[in-house]
Amino acid sequence: MTNLDPSTLFPHDFVWGTATSSYQIEGAAFVDKRSASIWDTFAHTPGKVANGDHGDIACDHYHLYEQDIKLMSEMGIDAYRFSISWSRLLPDGTPDSLNQSAVRFYQGIIDTCLEHGITPWVTLYHWDLPQCLHDQEQGWLDRRIIARFSDYAEVCFELFGTKVKHWITINEPWVIALLGYGQGMFAPGHESDSEPYIVGHNLLLAHAKAVKVYRHKFQKYQGGTIGITLNSDWREPKTQSSEDVTAAQRAMEFFLGWFADPLYFGDYPQTMRDALGDRLPRFSESEQKDLIHSSEFFGLNHYSTMYASEPSEDDVHEEVKGNGGVDKDQRVTLSVDPNWAITDMGWAVVPWGVRKLLHWIRDRYENPNIVITENGCAYDDAPNEQGIVNDQRRIEYYQSYLEECALAIQDGVVLSGYFAWSFMDNFEWACGYEKRFGLHYVDFKTQKRTAKQSAHWYREFIHKSK
Ligand code: GAL
Repeated sequence: MTNLDPSTLFPHDFVWGTATSSYQIEGAAFVDKRSASIWDTFAHTPGKVANGDHGDIACDHYHLYEQDIKLMSEMGIDAYRFSISWSRLLPDGTPDSLNQSAVRFYQGIIDTCLEHGITPWVTLYHWDLPQCLHDQEQGWLDRRIIARFSDYAEVCFELFGTKVKHWITINEPWVIALLGYGQGMFAPGHESDSEPYIVGHNLLLAHAKAVKVYRHKFQKYQGGTIGITLNSDWREPKTQSSEDVTAAQRAMEFFLGWFADPLYFGDYPQTMRDALGDRLPRFSESEQKDLIHSSEFFGLNHYSTMYASEPSEDDVHEEVKGNGGVDKDQRVTLSVDPNWAITDMGWAVVPWGVRKLLHWIRDRYENPNIVITENGCAYDDAPNEQGIVNDQRRIEYYQSYLEECALAIQDGVVLSGYFAWSFMDNFEWACGYEKRFGLHYVDFKTQKRTAKQSAHWYREFIHKSK
């Protein structure tokens, strides 16, 4: 870190927020008619989640949202990013089953945000597909999901669109496709070399269709904006050899390009076409038209960086083993510098990676308006005897990543918002409650929230940036 005070380097209208997602915080899993999602099923399958944890209660945000939003307002944030649980709103997956308790719950969140001067940013899909759509129609593997998703999105626009002006269709298609259908680490737990590409294709088309519905039926009179959130680490060439530089570029194209290229150019990267041939689905001309510029901002989730190098013969054989196909297809060897600090997730802390990633997006995708919809780190700091959670490593992480974001803005990157992941400790997917990403500590036995030192630091940071 330098001696810069990055808080003074952001534009005054920059959007500062925190983010959560439905399954990770709501709990009340089987209350008020909510039906199961693929994450309920997955978490209740022995061996899938650390310690047998699940989201049945989670942070009980379903009952505690008012106090949670009050805590957010004490941090002085401008915006709160949360997601809607599809199976709570539409228990049979379709608009026929509209659940009024869910409508009241989400209206309550939105109204409470607005009363506190917090702008809601709503994600429609953060991984919790209604189980019935998975069972009856194969979920994301079948094209019927495209219409199902846009019907669900339409219900959300109709119900909440007069108050919600910022929509995110889908969170992290890469994770859904690869971890859910390739590596089996996330719901629905499939292990396949071919499914990730089919799922990724349907996710993109579902996003585009929902955007089309929004633009045709709602945007004109509701006046909001809509986009998608993609996740990407940065891949740094391990050496400056042309092989490693090409390998790192290939890794970026397989990671971020897989989803961003169709949204800006209407097709997957040529490197992917060359490597995959017929295994990579094709878009029709009209689908391409719907995809291009269908994201009105570039939603980006970023956490970490790895080195990329051209694989040796041995590496190629190593990587063939069950990695959802994508590692084998991209043929890149990944590594980290042993001197890099790592978080409890085992992810390297490499602040300069975010700046390079922002440059890469600026240069490849027409200098889009980028919003960092997630960035943060897991550390297990707990309250000390005085009840203080002194999470200095988290403060350093945020401070150093934000400094690099500020430098990127000076470099001409259009970055207009930043959401810290996460508002509070929550159900960290396959890691259960063990990994704590929150600005607020949660005692899962009592549901008591404690603002960590990082929450106080964030409030100060936002205050100074205004
Ligand atoms: C993202 C995800 C979040 C959160 C975070 C930390 O991939 O969108 O839900 O869990 O990672 O792992």
